[in-house]
Amino acid sequence: MPIVKIDGKEIEVPKGTTLLQAARILGNDYAPPAMCYYSKLKGTGGFCRTCLVKVTKGSAQNPHPMPKLVASCRTEVMDGMEVENFTNAEVLEARKGVVEFLLINHPLDCPICDQAGECKLQDLSYEHGAAEGRYEFERREFDPIDIGDKIQLHMKRCIHCYRCIKTVEQLSSKRTHGMIHRGDSSEISTYIQNSIDEEFSGNVIDVCPVGALTDKTFRFKSRVWFTKPVDAHRNCSKCSGKVRLWFKDKDVLRVTARMDEWAEAEEFICNECRFEKKKKSDWIIEGPSKISKKSVISINHYQHLNELKVQTLKQQKALGFIPFNKRP
Ligand code: SF4
Ligand code: FES
Repeated sequence: MPIVKIDGKEIEVPKGTTLLQAARILGNDYAPPAMCYYSKLKGTGGFCRTCLVKVTKGSAQNPHPMPKLVASCRTEVMDGMEVENFTNAEVLEARKGVVEFLLINHPLDCPICDQAGECKLQDLSYEHGAAEGRYEFERREFDPIDIGDKIQLHMKRCIHCYRCIKTVEQLSSKRTHGMIHRGDSSEISTYIQNSIDEEFSGNVIDVCPVGALTDKTFRFKSRVWFTKPVDAHRNCSKCSGKVRLWFKDKDVLRVTARMDEWAEAEEFICNECRFEKKKKSDWIIEGPSKISKKSVISINHYQHLNELKVQTLKQQKALGFIPFNKRP
């Protein structure tokens, strides 16, 4: 089996493994970001260029470095290969450029976008982006389009990753939408604004890395960080019935697939589980969901704020401050 070194750490993987897959086995500190690759869907990857890495040694037989940065999701491991990701300045600079490019047409409407807090582009720009973009022209504008009664398409947020197309192509019996036009005129479209209403079509919401495809039954109900994710299951004849419920108080605000640490669905779920079962009594609750440590939900900003408040109050007390409500 080939052995590859990524950012100084060696790993042996089966032949045919890509650099991205090998890096994911090593863990979060080695894995390049990926906006279009989706391990559960065939033919994904190679569209966004966020996973670029530097191959400093091609293989044991051919130790020359590769002349250009390569997309790690499309490059197979060779025995003796050496790769730099987070340790290479050229890679980090190129990634900054890719983020700038992805943001050329993407509106900065996070405050009103349902995906905020779960948006991979938001995380990517925070971790790898430049402080400012250089694009001076107007962004593309589109009105939101209803593609069925449950899904809304915000074309202006789309980064053309093709994940939703591969999802519908591979999970349903007929192809209902695709990419039309070319270059900066490309658009996701159902051609004549048809609905996407195949049994597993709701999965396009989960695979979309940005807020381009959103769940209309959840829109504007809550910011995601105010909801509590809980794993639950039910007997379902169409899918595994294993889902994540997002509670606000006692109400189930939305149902999604369970996401793994790469923000990919563990198993795709059917539309009945996703859209029709919004009562707690529909489900057998398993317990709180394990959330990626990078997610705003698990970062515990709010817990941190509480700690800060307790500390400040202690300091104020030590300095002899009188709280407002106790002042004469
Ligand atoms: S709508 Fe979302 S999933 Fe589909 S291509 Fe655009 S960004 Fe990707
Ligand atoms: S994840 Fe490799 S090109 Fe998009």
